[in-house]
Amino acid sequence: MEEVDFSWERAKARRFGVWRYRELLPLRDDLRPVTLSEGGTPLIKVSNLYEKRVVNTPNTYVKFEGANPTGSFKDRGMTVGVTIAKSLSVDGVVVASTGNTAASAAAYAARAGLRCLVVLPKGGVAIGKLAQALLHGAEVREVEGTFDTALELVLESVMGGEMERFYPLNSYNPWRLEGQKTLAFEVVEELGEVPDFVLVPVGNAGNISAIWKGFKELYSFGYADKLPRMVGVQAEAAAPLAKAWALGLKKPVFVDDPRTIASAIRIGRPVNWSKAMRAVEESKGFFVSVDDGEILDAMRLLAREEGIGVEPASSVSLAALRRVAGEGRIGKGDLVVLVATGHALKDPDAMMGKLKV
Ligand SMILES: Cc1ncc(COP(=O)(O)O)c(C=O)c1O
Repeated sequence: MEEVDFSWERAKARRFGVWRYRELLPLRDDLRPVTLSEGGTPLIKVSNLYEKRVVNTPNTYVKFEGANPTGSFKDRGMTVGVTIAKSLSVDGVVVASTGNTAASAAAYAARAGLRCLVVLPKGGVAIGKLAQALLHGAEVREVEGTFDTALELVLESVMGGEMERFYPLNSYNPWRLEGQKTLAFEVVEELGEVPDFVLVPVGNAGNISAIWKGFKELYSFGYADKLPRMVGVQAEAAAPLAKAWALGLKKPVFVDDPRTIASAIRIGRPVNWSKAMRAVEESKGFFVSVDDGEILDAMRLLAREEGIGVEPASSVSLAALRRVAGEGRIGKGDLVVLVATGHALKDPDAMMGKLKV
């Protein structure tokens, strides 16, 4: 692996980015990061959408995670997860994925000189993500069924000891969540204050839990004077948490056959469901779901009015804001951050086929 200058001074000199916050990551000092300079993504005020009355508050920002090295927020967690894997001297890493985790794991494993095994739901992964995984040299296995089937297979193999030399990197891995929490740090540093609402697309429910952890840490260390409300957004026919929330239940209503154009969040049994529910409850936020029509409208609006190209699983946060603003749940005076998790190029079929550009 190429030598990386990773002195503290260099890390701190970066304006934002995952390793800038190394002091807030519970890692041994002697670890050498496997990094592609992830994080430090744009926080963009969507003024055109406000002027056109698409959003109801002038203080609406998009945190564009598509600007990460492999085009999604997964890189924030993968840099930490693969750093740990490398330090454990394993042969490789293994993930089940709806696509972005595979692309990211493959790239960081390549940089670390590790093998990368990925298990994907056959026909359920956007072509850009599959191409990335292959480009970076991942060994790909496709399974009949959904992401949940793929994850079950990985968990069984890991627990059964068949993968002793492979480090599992799905989002139940706490190191990934440590990296992902840095999004909260960047948002607060850049805005100079804590937003009122943070809307996050939810699939396996790791990211919303990680971001909430980040905000809570800032608050408990005295770097922030309040906490935001976390809003978890799911697609209507793949909404185990939003459905439970609407019914007032404490446990998810698992979905056996999740369906949505937003393939990245086509997940019926989120492993991090309890953490995500806690995040939403503690923050006095809520879960909400949006349908595929709203998702595609939001994707088109971000692209055409603001020049921000996101994949369908990312536009759910704007779709949700539009829906709940109509119900008065987020008001004109609120400071709102929409987390846009992945780049439009990930899913060309969604752009060309469904969007009719
Ligand atoms: C683009 C995109 N958005 C959202 C998610 C959901 O994140 P999480 O599984 O952490 O809830 C994923 C996960 O694959 C994703 O790739």
